[in-house]
Amino acid sequence: MARGSLIVVGTGIRLAQQCTPEARDAIEAADVVFAVVPDPIAEHWLGTLNANIVSLQPLYGGDRTRTETYEAMTDAILDGVRAAKRVCAVFYGHPGVFVTPSHEAVRRARAEGFDAHLLPGISAEDCLYADLGVDPGRLGCQSYEATDFIVNARKIDTTAVLIIWQIAVAGELTLRVLAPDARRLAVLVKVLLEDYPPHHVVIVYEAATLPITEAKIQALPLRELHTATVSQLSTLYIPPLSRPQPSPRRLALLKDMRAAT
Ligand SMILES: C[S@@+](CC[C@H](N)C(=O)[O-])C[C@H]1O[C@@H](n2cnc3c(N)ncnc32)[C@H](O)[C@@H]1O
Repeated sequence: MARGSLIVVGTGIRLAQQCTPEARDAIEAADVVFAVVPDPIAEHWLGTLNANIVSLQPLYGGDRTRTETYEAMTDAILDGVRAAKRVCAVFYGHPGVFVTPSHEAVRRARAEGFDAHLLPGISAEDCLYADLGVDPGRLGCQSYEATDFIVNARKIDTTAVLIIWQIAVAGELTLRVLAPDARRLAVLVKVLLEDYPPHHVVIVYEAATLPITEAKIQALPLRELHTATVSQLSTLYIPPLSRPQPSPRRLALLKDMRAAT
């Protein structure tokens, strides 16, 4: 009897152009494709690769919290695998970056003895590096989800890049609201002002999602961040404040090591 299997792939951010060949192959070869992509154009494009597309996007909203939506998505994917289908689950961007049901579906499918894996894709952060000319290897980089960043007392390194995801829902604790709110953004500003000066210029970034559109790049002083136009696709980029300082103690450790050899 045929065994079900699961492969989780990403479309990349810019429709069609950033979908990797291996992700495209997986979409084409599947018996059923469960899709969480942000707009009907993307769904239509998936339909040109495989006739059996099931959109999981309608699971957002209603009276579900985001946690309940992710659980319903995971269940739908797993039901397909248990029904002995070759299932492909498609998420936009990189399917394993800031996506809960993708990792959870792979974990549960494996726990139930099915073949399951996740392929890498092009994430919003990858697009940001290209569009803003940022090399995380040169500057160092920290990446956080906005509500996590507000709620948890994390230690920030202001000599490295800071990227904050999901600023539209920053501080949205009910997990039911998706629309941005300037008052919640103002709280994010207050938290950032603990480490950065008010005049520090930050960027609200939105990568192009269609081949015919351009990235949206809004640069403004941190103190005005709550006045920016923010959508569910916005990511906040905060450049370093200063350069890191070498540690004499650590340099001495290396010197001692060289002297001992
Ligand atoms: C649920 S996460 C999905 C991330 C996606 N899996 C990826 O690999 O980029 C949604 C967040 O990703 C970021 N994002 C999604 N699309 C974006 C875009 N076109 N430009 C910039 N950031 C984007 C935003 O921070 C948004 O709130």
